[in-house]
Amino acid sequence: MKMPFLNNKQLEKSFHYPEDNIPEHIAIIMDGNGRWARKRGMPRTVGHKEGISAVAKIVRAAVKCKVKVLTLYTFSTENWKRPKPEIEFILRLPKEFLSIYLPDLLSNNVRIEAIGDMESLPAYTREAIQYAIDRTRDNDGLQLNLALNYGSRHEILNAMKGIITDISNAKLSLDELDEQQFSGYLYTAGIKDPDLLIRTGGEKRLSNFLLWQLAYTEFWFTDVLWPDFSEKEFLHALEEYSQRKRRYGGI
Ligand code: IPE
Ligand code: IPE
Ligand code: MG
Repeated sequence: MKMPFLNNKQLEKSFHYPEDNIPEHIAIIMDGNGRWARKRGMPRTVGHKEGISAVAKIVRAAVKCKVKVLTLYTFSTENWKRPKPEIEFILRLPKEFLSIYLPDLLSNNVRIEAIGDMESLPAYTREAIQYAIDRTRDNDGLQLNLALNYGSRHEILNAMKGIITDISNAKLSLDELDEQQFSGYLYTAGIKDPDLLIRTGGEKRLSNFLLWQLAYTEFWFTDVLWPDFSEKEFLHALEEYSQRKRRYGGI
């Protein structure tokens, strides 16, 4: 499989990367890998593997557009319901992705972060991610959040537990607890809420992704399956986003 590298001068010439009204934080539900493969009579895992090049393309496009934060839904807490071999295949992909693209990510000043319950992931996933986090720690370009073993209800429940513990230890006052402090107990502490949510693969649901953080986010859905998602669709989403009027309840 030919990999489109992040530093691809050819691609640079073929797209116009907008500069105005760029969402600072884009979150993506990368859905449709399984169907992409099944349509071609191949095992679902082939679709997951193909999805890696789409990730590289979109990270690259986000860097070009000077997006500040990109959060990718990689594996949900519900995805443990899948057959074991598929789970294992998906959880090996971060290592594979990073073994190909980490040098490119470094030279593009990308900082990698993870959100989700890392503890219950296999060591090969955790260690690959941790290595990338450590290597890219000093970068101040695009922040790339990989949502791995992420579930929003689990995240909110965890936040509640942290808050109750801190209140009982008198580290936090119940009367002073506000939305901003609450956000500080989530995996996304310190990260601005997404401005734009993209979901590929045709489904129109959140599937337990960033329920708190998406309260005022603009949504953009496409039937395009994730392995087929490219700069063209990404720029289309940005174009539509730039036309939206965000009112936050005002007039
Ligand atoms: C998204 O693609 C990737 C993950 C959930 C890990 P799917 O595997 O859900 O593909 P479809 O939706 O079955 O086509
Ligand atoms: C959402 O896709 C999770 C990820 C993309 C990682 P799913 O395929 O798991 O979602 P549902 O099951 O269609 O809601
Ligand atoms: Mg799916």
